[in-house]
Amino acid sequence: MNRKRVLSGVQPTGAIHLGNWIGAIRNWVELQKSHETYVCVVDLHAITIPHDPKLLAKNTLSTAALYVACGMNPKECSIFIQSHISAHSELCWLLNCITPINWLERMIQFKEKAIKQGENVSVGLLDYPVLMAADILLYDADLVPVGEDQKQHLELARDIAQQRINSRFSLDNREILKVPKPLIMKDSAKVMSLTEGTSKMSKSDPNENSRITLLDPPDVVTKKIKRAKTDSYLGLEFNNPERPEADNLLNIYAILSGSGREVVAKECSSMGWGKFKPLLTDAIIASIEPIQTRYKELIADQGEVQRILDQGKEQAQEVADVTLKRVKTAIGLLGNAKANY
Ligand code: AMP
Ligand code: TRP
Repeated sequence: MNRKRVLSGVQPTGAIHLGNWIGAIRNWVELQKSHETYVCVVDLHAITIPHDPKLLAKNTLSTAALYVACGMNPKECSIFIQSHISAHSELCWLLNCITPINWLERMIQFKEKAIKQGENVSVGLLDYPVLMAADILLYDADLVPVGEDQKQHLELARDIAQQRINSRFSLDNREILKVPKPLIMKDSAKVMSLTEGTSKMSKSDPNENSRITLLDPPDVVTKKIKRAKTDSYLGLEFNNPERPEADNLLNIYAILSGSGREVVAKECSSMGWGKFKPLLTDAIIASIEPIQTRYKELIADQGEVQRILDQGKEQAQEVADVTLKRVKTAIGLLGNAKANY
């Protein structure tokens, strides 16, 4: 039986943090065992806001190395760089021409990022979700594991595939593009900032103490958790809307210690912050240490990462080209004999 396909990606816009890992990458590691899995570093998305060209290639390689260090196994999945497969940009253009502009203007992430950019908003930033739809639809993905913040983008990808491509251009009711489903893990979908429990942990927060990155050394983790925002209630609890920080830190602890929410709720119900913070610190350090060790080995031998990416590119290209051809034919572009569409 054919295995279901999974596709996902992260932008190389800065150090990968606990939110990216818990909300996305950790789930890919499980999925690759039972699904045909494609994961890419979405470098074309990273240039939709002003970026430093000196850092982009370095961050792209280091993000790919982190995927492997986190447990993505090139024998079980395909790991590649988005810009290495030109079909992403090509399909994006085709989808641009059938996507209503007001579908993009109402995207929450666009509105938030556009406010931050002020005057300097690029066409690319508005078009970001169409490129993301192209990433997903090119691989006929059944499932897209992402954090809660990406749900609206996934709905857009579904609408483009269903309403704008399949229902308009299919002549025999067969799907031209597969309609993907988001896979959002309930408990891990949103890791919040350490300095403000009501905002999500984010690469773009100017305050570095708001996040723990996968490459933070133990002393930095200890310092950031010591400084993490707390409250003055007695005991610790989940789900109290007055206590977003308690909910978030307990949740991180429940996931990383492997104990789960029920056990942690009991263990910590009469605990104070002074006793809890060292436990949380140890759980975080223990879970990111093996990732750091593997990452250092990989970065010391960049040839290995390059080989993994070359192999991933080949595997991805094979699938992407077939889908692109199908869409071009369906919308009526003239093929040439060599391309056979
Ligand atoms: P980005 O950092 O925007 O490239 O996000 C990469 C992946 O991490 C996406 O699947 C996001 O949904 C997920 N993600 C980002 N921030 C968080 C967070 N604070 N909590 C959970 N998932 C997140
Ligand atoms: N927009 C996603 C994010 O910021 C990154 C992304 C781009 C992505 N293309 C994708 C995620 C395709 C999943 C599938 O998190």
